[in-house]
Amino acid sequence: MVLNFKNPIRRFIRGIVLKWRLEVRYIIEKKIFPKIKNKKVLLVGVEYYTENYPKLLKTNDLYTLDINPSVARFGAKHHIVGDISDVDKFFPKESFDTILLLGIFGYGLNDVQGAEKTLENCSKVLKKKGLLILNWSDIVDKNPIKPRSLKNFSLFSPVSFNGYPSAYRTRQNHIFEFLIKK
Ligand SMILES: C[S@@+](CC[C@H](N)C(=O)[O-])C[C@H]1O[C@@H](n2cnc3c(N)ncnc32)[C@H](O)[C@@H]1O
Repeated sequence: MVLNFKNPIRRFIRGIVLKWRLEVRYIIEKKIFPKIKNKKVLLVGVEYYTENYPKLLKTNDLYTLDINPSVARFGAKHHIVGDISDVDKFFPKESFDTILLLGIFGYGLNDVQGAEKTLENCSKVLKKKGLLILNWSDIVDKNPIKPRSLKNFSLFSPVSFNGYPSAYRTRQNHIFEFLIKK
């Protein structure tokens, strides 16, 4: 569980743990969040370990979305219970500067058709040159979707982001893609 430590020593220890043991969280919280300040953001997928994210993203116009109604309490003030592949039904075209699609492929959204629809509709609700950040687990039998093999991956251009290339593989074989809408 990711705890929100107030004590400076605990915060320091948590920083080290994040960097070396929980690289995914380190990249999300320390490398991505500071670079998207003040933007209009859609965070897809919320959980008990992301409950401090609305606070970490307090400068943002933040929306959260999750298909599971029972996790709505971990979402932002503007939270939608729904399927990300239908995101164009919930928001007008060109709504967001950034969409964070973190740990969704392979964690509920497991079919190629749904993944294609998700990329297409995320592209619709992103502003021109908007940023889609994707994170997925490249672990055998875990995720049948390889984003780069999807047809609609071509709606985006991979870019480097805050020192990380797209794609970037963590020590635990999670892959980040940093994608700009074409
Ligand atoms: C592994 S958690 C990821 C949480 C968070 N995004 C993170 O930073 O790791 C996966 C979440 O995605 C949600 N989810 C799975 N499929 C979804 C879909 N099609 N649309 C919206 N949310 C979905 C699940 O309900 C779950 O809460």
